[in-house]
This record gives sequence, structure tokens and C-alpha cells, in this order.
Amino acid sequence: MLGGKRFLLGVTGSVAAYKAVQLASDLVKAGALVDVVLTRGALEFVTPLAFRAITHRDVLTCMFDPNQPEALEHVTLAREVDGVVVAPATAHAIAKFALGLADDLLSATLLATRAPVVIAPAMETAMYEHPATQQHLTTLRLRGWLVVGPASGRLASGAFGPGRLADLEDIIGGLRWALGLRGDLAGRRIVVTAGPTQEPIDPVRVITNRSSGKMGFAIAEAARDRGATVILITGPTTLRDPYGVEVRRVRTACEMYEAVKAAVRRCDALVAAAAVADYRPEAAATDKIKKADQPELTLRLVRNPDILGEVRGDFIRVGFAAESRDLIANARQKLVEKGLDLVVANDITAPDAGFEVDTNRVTFVYPDGRAEELPLLPKYEVAHRVLDRVVELLRLRRPVSPA
Ligand code: PMT
Repeated sequence: MLGGKRFLLGVTGSVAAYKAVQLASDLVKAGALVDVVLTRGALEFVTPLAFRAITHRDVLTCMFDPNQPEALEHVTLAREVDGVVVAPATAHAIAKFALGLADDLLSATLLATRAPVVIAPAMETAMYEHPATQQHLTTLRLRGWLVVGPASGRLASGAFGPGRLADLEDIIGGLRWALGLRGDLAGRRIVVTAGPTQEPIDPVRVITNRSSGKMGFAIAEAARDRGATVILITGPTTLRDPYGVEVRRVRTACEMYEAVKAAVRRCDALVAAAAVADYRPEAAATDKIKKADQPELTLRLVRNPDILGEVRGDFIRVGFAAESRDLIANARQKLVEKGLDLVVANDITAPDAGFEVDTNRVTFVYPDGRAEELPLLPKYEVAHRVLDRVVELLRLRRPVSPA
């Protein structure tokens, strides 16, 4: 998504400027080419050398410096970049951008660019909440810029409140969202399930499984990156909410069932990557079950709803099948039983595939009986392959309805 893209990273004079070094590093690690522009204020907090060491490119600071010929070419730079990120953006910089002033390299480049712009404000709470700043931010939003954050927390002054630079993951998530706005899932609503469910035995213990949520979260992020409106319904996981995705957190299979039923109204596709417990204890004990003298304890389990099997409608339905044997035969059976458009068969015995890891090895099983094996891929890539198929099916069946 970010690989092979070229970005302009603008840094303005806030104490949070040091975090922009990490942001540049994260973008470079994602395979992007990053041109950094530091304002005069930023130079008080960070050095061009830090950014140059990370981006391996000249860092631009001044529009008229004969030693920085690229800076004079700011109109070309503005035209060539795929996106601009300003992080941190001070109240002063935001005011300049909103007014369309162009008295330094960064503001001039921003005026000249037509690429998506993401800004991440960072300042004291009083400055952020001031009507002038709020008005300027509204102006920028109306202009189509994405404002990410600020986050709330401890500020440089020691006070607490809104004004901290947003988490870098959210800034990058915002950039990915902004780049994908006109993607092939624009105007589509995709519901994704992820993670395990937890079925309580007593107030302390649960029946659960090894799903980390990574596969489902990757699908939600990939769908967001292609322009979809995404609802992610997830069981308990340690993963943070992806930026730009509506996350609904549930615990049990029954809760997931209710959440999915509510979410699929007006959706275009349901992609179910969650590992849902098929059974739950008939009744959870209200008090912690104590160790007793008898050597055995019997738990009586009852069936949970088959969410994907039961939630049907006029939308594309994709299921996963995690199998330790007879992969394709079992996946085909699930496809037929649940009436699915595609089953992603997941061989959990393959190395680096299935639960918890960042990669996966899957085989697509189609309603006409075909099976298509994919190589070992990062889960985010697997997600895109699944969505490629969803896009194809949607094109055949459901043209985007006008907003
Ligand atoms: O979360 P990760 O650590 O990244 O791991 C990813 C994964 C291995 C969990 C994922 O790739 C995967 O294979 N998910 C499906 C797991 C599974 O056990 O599926 P199943 O064979 O039990 O169910 C088949 C399909 O029906 C699935 O789409 C499942 O979400 C759905 N289902 C199952 C039971 C149930 N009661 N309701 C359901 O909707």
C-alpha cells in the first residue's frame, strides 16, 4: 500500500517533532520514498541530519537556498508526491495552511499540491481548543484534508488534555485511508469478523482458542485502504483499533452473532475470519468453581449459533476454514453447508500459517469446485487477494448505488 509511493513529510516547530523521525523511519520501512521538509521552527527541535540518515535523501529547509535546488522545485515536488503528511502541525502552521499563505517551503508546497494531505496537530490544549484553531481545522477538513488527532494525555507542559501528537500508527492509518479513498471498494460497506470468542465457565475461566485477530484485522485494514466503509466485529484481542475502521468489540459467540446481524444491514459483503467457539458451557457458574475432592469435573456444553451459516442476505459471504486435515474436502463442505461465495481454506499445520503469526498460507475454494492455492504471504496480502475476489463478485452482482 505504501511501498513504492513517494511522500512529503512536513515537520513544524513543536516539541513532538522528534516523533517525526520515527514516522519517517516507519514510512521508509514500509517501502516509501520520503522527502522531508523542516520549517524554521522545526529546526529548533530536530536536525536535518537525523531525517537524512533515515530517508537517505536531502532534507529541505529553505525555499531560496542555492545549495538546495530541489527546494526551488517545490512545485514539481508538490506535483510528484502521492501524499503529504504534516506531523506535528503547530497552531501557527495550521493557521497559515488554512489561510493559504505561502511564505516558506512547506506552506508553498502545500498550496501547490493536489495530493491527499494528512495533518496531525500537536499543541497545548488551550491553543488547540481556541476558536481560531478550531475554525482553521474546519476549513482544512472542508478542503478535503484529513486531520488525525490530536490525542489526549500528558503534554510537554505537564498538563493533561487534548493536544498530544496522535499515535504514529494512527497517522499512517490516516494516510492509508486518505490514499485509498477512490479505491475499488469506494462506496461499499464491508463487515469483517475477527479474533476468538470467549465462552465463560465461571467468573475466572473461559473456553477460547488461539486466534489473535491478525487475519481479520488485516482484512479490515485492506478494505479500508481500498475505500470501503468497514465494520470490524472482533472477539477479545490485544490488537488496537485500526484508524478509520468502526470496531465493535464482543466477547462471546452469542454477542458476535447479535453484532453481525445488526451490522450486515445495508452491507455489500461479510468476510468471516473469526474463530468462533462452536460450543459454550450451558450455564456459566456465578462463583469461581472450587477444586473439590473428585478427580473429574464435567462441563456440559451447548451449541452456539453458526453465525455465518445463519446470517444470510443480499450480500457476498466469505468464510474461512481452519483445518488440520482434509483441508479442501472440509472447506468444500463448509462452502456448501453455509451457502458461501468463497471459502478461504487455512492449513493450520503449515509453517508460519494460521493462528498468531503475521503470514498465512491459504487455498481459495470456489462454489464451482475449483481450488486455488496461494503461496505463503503476509496476512495483509492474503487480505487483498480475498478482497480482489470480493470486488470481482460485487462488480458482477451489485453496481455501487449512488450515495
Ligand atoms: O486470528 P489469527 O491469529 O490471525 O488466525 C487466523 C485464523 C486461523 C483464525 C483465520 O485465518 C481462520 O481460519 N478463521 C476461521 C477459523 C475457524 O475455526 O473456522 P471454522 O472452520 O470453525 O468456521 C468456518 C467459518 O464459519 C468461519 O468463517 C467462521 O468465522 C464461521 N463460524 C464458525 C462457527 C460459528 N459458530 N459461527 C461462524 O460464523
